[in-house]
Amino acid sequence: MTARTVRRMGDPVLMQRAREVAAFDTPELKLLVGDLFDTMAAENGAGLAAPQIGVALRVIVFGVAANPRYPEAEPVPTTVLVNPDMEPIGDGVEDGWEGCLSVPGLRGLVPRYTHIRYSGYSVAGARIKHEARGFHARVFQHEFDHLNGILYPMRLRDLTAFGFEDVLFPGQRFSD
Ligand code: NI
Repeated sequence: MTARTVRRMGDPVLMQRAREVAAFDTPELKLLVGDLFDTMAAENGAGLAAPQIGVALRVIVFGVAANPRYPEAEPVPTTVLVNPDMEPIGDGVEDGWEGCLSVPGLRGLVPRYTHIRYSGYSVAGARIKHEARGFHARVFQHEFDHLNGILYPMRLRDLTAFGFEDVLFPGQRFSD
């Protein structure tokens, strides 16, 4: 497994709809997931989507224990989702600060559904269904967006709440 180079905003692979994974439990899929976790760990990310390492497939990983990039965030279970989908539960939306390893050094205030139901498959092809709120729901929605060519700056409603993290949050240390 290898930490791969994270593609940055402007790269066409980040702007396209990623393809469904057709075959489960393959060496290629296991290698991809391993590389996603290694890259996420190397960059202290809360999550990572396959297009961010240049692979246009519908695979995301996420998980937050104690993350220096999100010092206030509640923990999120370590999760792999292949071919994920989601639906909001209710219409509650809240703003929260987000960053992205593909948009290094910046933060923006992004509206997300507060309560969602998501689904997908494990690497082995087992069906996964989960309900999530708050930061967990936010992390899923951010990574899911990557599979549809959407980066968080495209979701900003107020461009005055978008800037460099060391300017917005002086004194806090971020890894990217
Ligand atoms: Ni991102």
